[in-house]
Amino acid sequence: MAYAGITGWGKCLPHGVLTNADLASFLDTSDDWIVSRTGIGSRRIADCLLADMAEVAAARALACAGLEAADLDLIVFGTTTHDDQCPNMASGLQARLGAGPCAALDLNTACTSFLYGLSAATALIRTGVVRNALVVGAERISPYMDWDDRNVSVLFGDGAAAVILQATEQEEGVLLEKLGCYGDAREILRIHGIGGAYVHSGRLAGVTEWQFEGQEIFKKAVTGMGLACEDVLSRAGIQTQDIDLVVPHQANLRIIEAVAKRAGIEMDRVFVNVHRYGNMSAATVPVALCEALEAGRIKPHATLLMPAFGGGLTFCAHLVRWGSRTTPIETSDKELASPERSALDIVLDYRRARERGVS
Ligand code: ACO
Repeated sequence: MAYAGITGWGKCLPHGVLTNADLASFLDTSDDWIVSRTGIGSRRIADCLLADMAEVAAARALACAGLEAADLDLIVFGTTTHDDQCPNMASGLQARLGAGPCAALDLNTACTSFLYGLSAATALIRTGVVRNALVVGAERISPYMDWDDRNVSVLFGDGAAAVILQATEQEEGVLLEKLGCYGDAREILRIHGIGGAYVHSGRLAGVTEWQFEGQEIFKKAVTGMGLACEDVLSRAGIQTQDIDLVVPHQANLRIIEAVAKRAGIEMDRVFVNVHRYGNMSAATVPVALCEALEAGRIKPHATLLMPAFGGGLTFCAHLVRWGSRTTPIETSDKELASPERSALDIVLDYRRARERGVS
């Protein structure tokens, strides 16, 4: 049976950096509080569309794999923060890249969207439906944030990354995964004000309000990711010492530490970049994967474990075998345009827009 090896990878982070001190300039919070509770020091804020970030990340991933856009059979776009309700993000990315007429679908399982997308694309490759796939994890959360709610606004950031999957006879790519969802706990993380439900709620159209029970999410995240890791390791018949690197969802350093402790994996085998970017939802795992490769933390044929959780509450863990190449075949010079405003100015503009009743 064919496998789906990861042969290309690329990321795109917006230029604008919003520090904890920037947040404390308009919010009752502090660098000390944010760092001690979450490990987050800064996050990126986009002054562009989600599609712009995804296009740069995808172009870089294609170059890395040495493929042309026309070689793609499938684009899976994992996101919760699409630019339009319809048409979907994947069709727009296909048109921007010139990858038509390949299949193009969006997938929304919140922060696990990239990994769920990896599963979907891998399955379509392994069953012979497609041979080359682009899987994107990208979010532009900043326009949907309630910037006056300190419980959530300090946690999130914008970003994008993508990988290329290609059919291969080598035992590479996703070897096993566990996918799950605690649907009965879906109300503990909810963004009101986007989608048709707000019409029934009496809220202002487009003005978001976050329902977010941080401690409950924390507990469910650790339980879900812990169970998913145990499941894949026991089905694969491998021990935690056989894992070369854990590349987890980056929501909160304390959650990552709790999951690693429960799995019996020391933190020096866990890749962490949450201090730089905060929680970029679907983008965290692929951005972390790119940065682990850039840092030389992923060696040829490495065995990786990728656990994640997200709104829904979805959870998963993927066991991935890396291929023989850890450097790009080519690079792309595609870049985001320089931002016209600082990250703080963008956020202050969002706050002013909310006061006027539009987001
Ligand atoms: N700055 C200062 N004080 C704050 C802030 C802030 N940014 N946010 C909350 N506080 C206050 C609260 O108001 C509360 O004050 P009170 O005691 O006077 O009422 C106090 O800090 C403690 O609040 P808790 O919610 O108990 O703080 P906790 O230690 O649980 O940390 C946190 C909150 C970081 C959200 C934690 O619960 C957590 O990590 N939860 C996991 C959720 C998460 O990270 N989700 C990621 C996004 S979801 C996803 O990825 C799918």
